[in-house]
Amino acid sequence: MKNLTSIKWGILGPGKIAGKFAKDLLKVPHAIPYAVASTRVDRAVSFAKEYHFQKHFGSYESMLADPGLDVVYVATPHVFHHQNTLMCLQAGKAVLCEKPFAMNLSLVEEMIALAKQKNVFLMEALWTRFLPHFLYVLNIVQKQTLGKLLSLEADFGMNVPFDANSRLYDKSLGGGGLLDVGIYPVFASLLFLDYPAEIQAEADFASTGVDSRCEMFFKHHGNATSKLYCSTTKRTPTEAKLIFEKGTIIINSRFHEPTTVTVGSVNGTETIDFHYQTNGYYYEAAHVIDCLQKGLKESPLMNFENSLNLIKLLDAVRLKIGLNYENN
Ligand SMILES: NC(=O)c1ccc[n+]([C@@H]2O[C@H](COP(=O)([O-])OP(=O)(O)OC[C@H]3O[C@@H](n4cnc5c(N)ncnc54)[C@H](OP(=O)(O)O)[C@@H]3O)[C@@H](O)[C@H]2O)c1
Repeated sequence: MKNLTSIKWGILGPGKIAGKFAKDLLKVPHAIPYAVASTRVDRAVSFAKEYHFQKHFGSYESMLADPGLDVVYVATPHVFHHQNTLMCLQAGKAVLCEKPFAMNLSLVEEMIALAKQKNVFLMEALWTRFLPHFLYVLNIVQKQTLGKLLSLEADFGMNVPFDANSRLYDKSLGGGGLLDVGIYPVFASLLFLDYPAEIQAEADFASTGVDSRCEMFFKHHGNATSKLYCSTTKRTPTEAKLIFEKGTIIINSRFHEPTTVTVGSVNGTETIDFHYQTNGYYYEAAHVIDCLQKGLKESPLMNFENSLNLIKLLDAVRLKIGLNYENN
């Protein structure tokens, strides 16, 4: 039996987000920066050097054959998540895979089925779920401290110059605002409310056929509503506003990453500072380590049902706006 006191991490696809994640990983107790794999060995070498990983590999297969490796962070573009996760699971390695988990529901179902078959841990890297300010707000929602939640408004807009070959605008890489940043407002809606009973959505498209603006309106059970917005061409506050029967909460800009929360009630208005010391990826990595140390195969916080509902809802929104990657 392996000693899982310390967990040896591997990075698959050492690009932009992997760098931010690795920087946080260095601060996480019991995390060992162990291996980096890239299709380009020079990239693996320089990443391993910069973030103090012990080993580097010029192919994903060679890293996955290393018996010392415990868990792999999959950080490639969306369209590769399914294939890369299956590779890791086949090799018996636990997986933390970037969002969106895969391009559609049936691919996510396949990943989860293999994780269950191999009895290996798998989790979607929806890092926001583990941030203390999100847990704080979720607690208020669940305990109904301010009464029932009536509505959520959340946006995530950034202004990224058009480049047909970039990950954000290239349809063959799964580009578009909804899957890249719209996923955060959609996730917040699922977490704080429930899977909507009614879904409306409309969008604008870039010349490459991916969404550059998407607006969504959900009606939830019990008549609560979500009004959500995302854009790749307009910078927006990127806030989340929750209206309750007896107060309001604003998760301040940018709501999906380390930030502050302003709570308004009959007692007045208070802004809570969570004194973050990291990029925020620290918390999801620490959670994965906790799960692995306990022998869990599924996260209790970001479980398979959460990921299935998220991709199902993203599929439903894509259907409404006519965004189809499958025929690309
Ligand atoms: N959680 C967050 O805050 C956050 C933030 C940004 C992005 N993300 C997610 O992280 C994922 C990666 O985003 P990123 O911006 O970090 O990506 P990136 O830097 O463009 O690429 C990451 C790695 O993916 C592989 N890759 C890139 N383009 C490829 C292509 N055309 N064909 C084959 N492989 C390719 C490369 O791996 P090799 O080095 O092995 O070739 C590259 O090092 C996305 O799914 C995104 O949604 C999450």
